Amino acid sequence: MDLYEYQAKDLFAAHGVPVLPGRTVETADDAAAAASEIGTAVVVKAQVKTGGRGKAGGVKLAENPDEAREKANAILGLDIKGHTVHRVLVTEASDIAEEYYFSFLLDRSNRTFLAMCSAEGGMEIEQLAVERPDALARIPVDAIAGVDKAKADEIVAAGKLPAEVADEAANVIVKLWDTFVAEDATLVEVNPLVRDPDGRIIALDGKVTLDGNADFRHSEHAQLVDERTENPLEAKAKAKGLNYVKLDGGQVGIIGNGAGLVMSTLDVVAYAGEAHGGVKPANFLDIGGGASAQVMADGLDVILGDDDVKSVFVNVFGGITACDAVANGIVEALKILGDNASKPLVVRLDGNNVDEGRKILADANHPLVTVVGTMDDAAAKAAELAAGA
Ligand SMILES: Nc1ncnc2c1ncn2[C@@H]1O[C@H](COP(=O)(O)OP(=O)(O)OP(=O)(O)O)[C@@H](O)[C@H]1O
Ligand SMILES: [Mg+2]
Repeated sequence: MDLYEYQAKDLFAAHGVPVLPGRTVETADDAAAAASEIGTAVVVKAQVKTGGRGKAGGVKLAENPDEAREKANAILGLDIKGHTVHRVLVTEASDIAEEYYFSFLLDRSNRTFLAMCSAEGGMEIEQLAVERPDALARIPVDAIAGVDKAKADEIVAAGKLPAEVADEAANVIVKLWDTFVAEDATLVEVNPLVRDPDGRIIALDGKVTLDGNADFRHSEHAQLVDERTENPLEAKAKAKGLNYVKLDGGQVGIIGNGAGLVMSTLDVVAYAGEAHGGVKPANFLDIGGGASAQVMADGLDVILGDDDVKSVFVNVFGGITACDAVANGIVEALKILGDNASKPLVVRLDGNNVDEGRKILADANHPLVTVVGTMDDAAAKAAELAAGA
């Protein structure tokens, strides 16, 4: 889960990373009130989960409460790369002497964590990374050894941060590592990390991605979920305990058992779809082993609720859960859904008790269900139905 800047900075503050005081508001009047409460010049900042807010006009300085109201008015409702601004952060304006860049992230290709640090932070960091990659230091971080003061000193030196701030920057970096580990993050990014005229180091911006696999040990993270921007289908699936990911631009709903089978199902559907005008899979949904009728019904319910879906491909390999149980699950699920089941279903069953499973589906003779023998043929059928719909 990606966090908003204000949420990221709340976590920073809780782990001792210096941030500036601020308040998050949803109206221009509240922005003015927040500015007068803060009592200094403020910066009004769009809270959206995308980068490049400054360049899109989503970060503006306001000298006084009236200006804060005016700036908030301009920013609220703005569309930044497809994200509508519903909230702004009103925060103390900082005198900036220098802007640095710092991040910790999961480096999947090298199977390690990575620190990135540069003395040349700010809004042009993406350009810097491309044009002068040497100016952005990349230091692997061992997961067990972590980041102590000595390691942070090494990172600061590699990033060529000025000697006057090296010590304090290293202390802040240790606290950012504490945040990264304690919150189970896969990304902690501060751009800019600034030095103010008094030589203090402050996190002026914050981007944090939390690892959803660790949600079970962070009940407190549930309150960070923003229901307004969550994909409603994903939210519904999550509430039912389903492993579902919506894919953009697809028309074939996918249900399978086992992540590997579902992944390869996405591939064969995309491949088969090429012969039908570029039809694509609409989602990932793994109903796992032991799929009961209720789980099948829940899965179908989510997928049929997706307006993009024109046909559904149910691809099951019977293992511990035999095909007859799955077939009964499909038949029962269609009963549970009744009139809500409205799109054609292509079912491919194979594995344990396959004959019995196919017989159950044949006997049920549901008008929406087509049983196909192989995965490739089933994918082609599902793509054809989606293209014809
Ligand atoms: N509190 C502040 N006081 C003074 N200047 C600020 C403050 N916050 C941000 N700025 C200035 O605005 C610039 C952009 O702010 P910020 O980094 O938060 O947004 P962004 O980089 O455009 O967004 P993103 O990080 O999403 O790409 C900063 O580089 C900094 O120069
Ligand atoms: Mg930034």
